[in-house]
Amino acid sequence: MTDTNETRWHTYEDADAVAQATANWILDAARIAVAEGRTFRLVLAGGRTPEKAYRLLSNVDTDWSTWEIFYGDERCLAIDDSERNSVMALRAWLEKVDIPASQLHPIPAELGAESAAAAYGDLISSALPFDLVLLGIGEDGHTASLFPGQEHSADELVHPVHDAPKPPPDRVSLSRNTLANTRRLLVLVTGDNKYNAVNAWKSGESIPVASIHPESGVDVLIDHAALKQ
Ligand code: 6PG
Repeated sequence: MTDTNETRWHTYEDADAVAQATANWILDAARIAVAEGRTFRLVLAGGRTPEKAYRLLSNVDTDWSTWEIFYGDERCLAIDDSERNSVMALRAWLEKVDIPASQLHPIPAELGAESAAAAYGDLISSALPFDLVLLGIGEDGHTASLFPGQEHSADELVHPVHDAPKPPPDRVSLSRNTLANTRRLLVLVTGDNKYNAVNAWKSGESIPVASIHPESGVDVLIDHAALKQ
């Protein structure tokens, strides 16, 4: 039985190498899901870090009909706002491949945080467990839209978020338990601006990214810059 607190650190030369490794991990997880007769249910990370990996996936030739895409969080912005996590993923990858539209599940954050969280919770309740969850980490140790010092109801699958310290203030986030309800979880970390958050994590500080405990543990794909190596 894997220790649910196990965190495995995989170090790479730079952000490009992290992106290539991320794409490889995702494709491996997809192959496993399909071999086991499942649709591959993948939860995307937002922010900028995963964009390189998404661009690499846009050039892959695979059977996209077996893929189903969810999001770990979303910003409460108009559906076509370039600052939305869904718009970044569409432009970098998803609009360039043939995943069936019925298997692309953006968070309807344009409805407002409460309505979107309720609707998305209903949607994902029948999609658990996920096959793979991707997460980023903020300089303050946040992940998805789970920010330090913000409390949420433990019985929610998906949280409305307000007063987020990273703009925009209104967001929607899968809960820590929902994010942990997955066969594999990757945290993607690049850049020296993440060094302090990584150190806090390694030192055992209770930052949000450290609160996600899938049964299989956590794999961190990190470059030398984020370790100040
Ligand atoms: C968001 C993301 C957020 C992100 C981290 C890292 O909506 O901003 O969900 O959790 O993953 O802030 O962002 P970068 O990858 O841009 O550093």
